[in-house]
Amino acid sequence: MHPLLQQYPSLQGVLPCAGIAALPTPVSALDSHGQAWVKHDDLTHPLYGGNKIRKLEFIIGEWRQRQVREVITFGAVGTNAGLATALACHQEGIRCRVLLFDQPPSAIVRANLLAMQQLGAKLDYCGSLFQTALRFYLHPRRLLPDHYFLFAGCANPAATYAYVNAAFELKAQIAEGQLPEPEEIVIPVGSGSTLAGLTLGCRLAGMQTRVVGVRVAPARLGLIPACTPDTVFSQIRTAHVFLSKHLPGGIAFPPPRPVLLDTYYGPGYGESTPEALAAIRRFDDDHDIKLEQTYTGKAAACFLDRLDACQGPVLFWNTFNSRPMGNLPTATTRHPLSPPLTRILQT
Ligand SMILES: Cc1ncc(COP(=O)(O)O)c(C=O)c1O
Repeated sequence: MHPLLQQYPSLQGVLPCAGIAALPTPVSALDSHGQAWVKHDDLTHPLYGGNKIRKLEFIIGEWRQRQVREVITFGAVGTNAGLATALACHQEGIRCRVLLFDQPPSAIVRANLLAMQQLGAKLDYCGSLFQTALRFYLHPRRLLPDHYFLFAGCANPAATYAYVNAAFELKAQIAEGQLPEPEEIVIPVGSGSTLAGLTLGCRLAGMQTRVVGVRVAPARLGLIPACTPDTVFSQIRTAHVFLSKHLPGGIAFPPPRPVLLDTYYGPGYGESTPEALAAIRRFDDDHDIKLEQTYTGKAAACFLDRLDACQGPVLFWNTFNSRPMGNLPTATTRHPLSPPLTRILQT
């Protein structure tokens, strides 16, 4: 049973879980002094790891409860969240539709696009993020009860609870002596639910750890705030209200503010920075850990800086899949790619 539900049995009927994720994920040391640590959420599933599967572990529980027949989500053309959702839908026998917007092409983007198609997802290229979000929010099937609209990055309240649970998982590993309590945890931040869940979860689990989020997505889309301390805080507040209601005695502290750093973002979403490229190389050369330029490379650059700045241990939470993609299943029905997506595969 998940450690959050073990700690609070009153949540057991309230937070349904799927049992698809391989949890707890391992922790390992990166040095011999016990200063540098990694939490391997790259291994959350035997076929495809990453932080989205940990979120889906709690999200799929809702699909099953609501007898969902189709999931509609959106993301960049190489979306990790779309791919994890396509895998989850394939395993659950549910239709999956992913609305896609542009991002700089790369080998990972092309591989993810092909994998989503292989898993049977219907892929709709919509152009800009603005056009894609509009199609998502104004979708004609929005009100159908057997359709589940999943925000980009698999971000929703269930996803936040999944990362509150992850903090309790880490706390149990500390109690077992697998690692010391970190002074800081460093993670990349896109939709913000990983940061929201860990920030609230570490506090709820009684840890002193500071969770440091590294912004890797635009702070604003036009005038609309997207990835800011306030958007993350609102996810923390929602989870705080829900958990206060369901925990015996409520929660004794107010919702904590998140720590979100802007300084590693660089020129844009998916665009690499020299610091990220150097960190990716260092993780690969020294530890054989494969990172990428959109999320984990930027967080790893911050992690290396925090290691120099902190007295105590620092933990890098690896959110990017490390399983080989060759073992993903193939759906019986595969939808053809539209010309813009075919062109992306050829770039
Ligand atoms: C590999 C990876 N790391 C981190 C993130 C960011 O997580 P969150 O959306 O919870 O902020 C994402 C989101 O897409 C991701 O794919």
